[in-house]
Amino acid sequence: MTARDAMPGRAGLVPTMGALHDGHLALVEAARRECAGVLASIFVNPTQFSATEGATPYPRDEENDLRKLDNAGCDAVWLPSVSAIYPPGDATTIDPAGPALRWEGTHRPGHFRGMATVVAKLFGLARPDTAFFGEKDWQQLQVVRRMVTDLTLPVRIFGVETVREADGLAMSSRNRFLDTRQRAIAPLLFACLQQVAGDLRSGTPADAALKAGRARLEQGGLGVDYLALVDGTTLLPVSELAAGRLIAAVRLGPVRLLDNIAV
Ligand code: PAJ
Repeated sequence: MTARDAMPGRAGLVPTMGALHDGHLALVEAARRECAGVLASIFVNPTQFSATEGATPYPRDEENDLRKLDNAGCDAVWLPSVSAIYPPGDATTIDPAGPALRWEGTHRPGHFRGMATVVAKLFGLARPDTAFFGEKDWQQLQVVRRMVTDLTLPVRIFGVETVREADGLAMSSRNRFLDTRQRAIAPLLFACLQQVAGDLRSGTPADAALKAGRARLEQGGLGVDYLALVDGTTLLPVSELAAGRLIAAVRLGPVRLLDNIAV
């Protein structure tokens, strides 16, 4: 049964990998406002993890997830099996370019191929009118928008603002793997993004502001994969502020933290 069959009227899909937190629930809330019925999917998609990432198991918390979705007013939850998504004979993948080429595309080879492929499959199976994605994963959101445009998929993509902890750390399923010391350092990422954004707004040249931001992150104990000012849609690096998005990924113990803000 598709989301459309289950829910007459506008059907909203919230794709997740589970281990849900308030960031995911903000997507459900947005879907409730925008749609007559809300379907959430929980599927830890094996094809979007590399062999090395597979070594760190993805957190699973199904019982709590179902309770949280119920409390958030989600109408239905879909937990497809791996074989339902990748049946025997499965032979087609989506290979996104454009906004997928840099940043996470470089640091996690194959990640966006797996992500785009599963999202297209979820759309095909659930047939939502609207699908909800977090701005937390800014590049993912742009890759999905580009795919929907390029493949003329009949789905509206709705982006939802990043939900943060009180100290600014963007909520993420993997934050639970930070120990006390690492958790205390983690908010530095958002603080640095804010500081760099402020420097850019007050006229500091992008190169200088980014270099200073990177140094602050490193001094604080974060391993910087990238800190960049990019065009918010194409993810190409830019040096002026119009339509700019400041994006970053850092390593902290067992976790990679991703964050981004508008400039
Ligand atoms: P997952 O990491 O579970 O995230 C599911 C959705 O929740 C994504 O759209 C993500 O951007 C959003 N999200 C996560 N943390 C958020 C936060 N702090 N504030 C707002 N939104 C947040 O992203 C995936 O799963 C997968 O790649 C998926 C799209 C499900 C495909 O497998």
